[in-house]
Amino acid sequence: MQEHPRTARVAVVMGVSGSGKTTIGRVLARRLGWLFQEGDALHPSENVAKMSAGHPLDDEDRAPWLAIAARIDEWRARGEAGVIPCSALKRSYRDVIIGDRPDVRLVYLAGSRELIAERLAARRRHFMPASLLDSQFAALEPPMPEECAIAVSVDAPVAGSVARIAASLVPAGTIPGDGRLTG
Ligand SMILES: Nc1ncnc2c1ncn2[C@@H]1O[C@H](COP(=O)(O)OP(=O)(O)OP(=O)(O)O)[C@@H](O)[C@H]1O
Ligand SMILES: [Mg+2]
Repeated sequence: MQEHPRTARVAVVMGVSGSGKTTIGRVLARRLGWLFQEGDALHPSENVAKMSAGHPLDDEDRAPWLAIAARIDEWRARGEAGVIPCSALKRSYRDVIIGDRPDVRLVYLAGSRELIAERLAARRRHFMPASLLDSQFAALEPPMPEECAIAVSVDAPVAGSVARIAASLVPAGTIPGDGRLTG
């Protein structure tokens, strides 16, 4: 990973379905005291229906997700910080969501299809069926070195990954509650 010169204000947590974006993103936001915006909440309902029926989304269907870029710019304009889980599988999406905003960092949750399929199979009440995982891996373009992603492995425990990500996002000593015995 390359060093990034600035303190981040926004973290985009990317990865295939079931990689742990929502799980890691929520804990990260709580740890940093940042806002949290679920990428799925910006998913148009017709996309949710399509995925539930087992049809992968194409590029055009995904375009509305890029409303995420507007949310990010809203936060930045207001001087707020936040975490957004969003699959952002393709470089072209990340170019829109992140582009050259120096205070927006990419977090990449990397893992094997086998482990992620297991987690999806165990997960209940969620619209992404495990059968769509192959299409997710087919679409996945892992971050290039110049994207300076903070990469963590999905098989690591959540707390440790969040601590690592937080330490890469903001300078030591600026994490609220760090060093105290709080959960
Ligand atoms: N590091 C981890 N260790 C163990 N279990 C995990 C870990 N990360 C996530 N999980 C579990 O894996 C499942 C998938 O995680 P999660 O729902 O956060 O994935 P996601 O990337 O948000 O998926 P989607 O794109 O479909 O929203 C959940 O049941 C979650 O509890
Ligand atoms: Mg999720």
